[in-house]
Amino acid sequence: MKLKTSSVYDCCVIDVSKVHNDSGNITVVENGHNIPFDVKRIYYLYDVPSGEARGGHAHYELEQFIVAASGSFDVIIDDGINKKRVSLNRPNLALHMVPGLWRELDSFSSGSICMVLASHKYDETDYIRDYDKFLKLKK
Ligand code: TYD
Repeated sequence: MKLKTSSVYDCCVIDVSKVHNDSGNITVVENGHNIPFDVKRIYYLYDVPSGEARGGHAHYELEQFIVAASGSFDVIIDDGINKKRVSLNRPNLALHMVPGLWRELDSFSSGSICMVLASHKYDETDYIRDYDKFLKLKK
């Protein structure tokens, strides 16, 4: 399978905006409105032990919105040439991850929740879990 020629500069943090209220805020993500793909799956990562890192893979096709639903963490994006560290710490900010990029997540704060809105259902064949293979496919 061919890996997309995407770069770290294709990823950006989107302010999804919020419905502000003195008694609490609401952030809405709606297919066809404020997300550049249709959401097929939502998963969240939590109870990450202090000092632990997650990710360590790339995807052929999967596109994602990564949100710090609670607390904070960093996403390190890598296109084989450039690396970019993005800190997420507000529930209204979503990192738009395009396919074809290596990613790692670290610096999880205590009690943080990493919510991911994904463009496809879970498919292990969409993963590249070997960094050397990723670099070869990126060339
Ligand atoms: P993985 O995506 O590698 O986690 P992370 O990027 O957070 O380190 O997923 C870890 C395991 O969880 C994987 O081997 C299978 C399972 N899993 C599912 O069954 N369905 C899913 O939607 C996801 C994201 C993971």
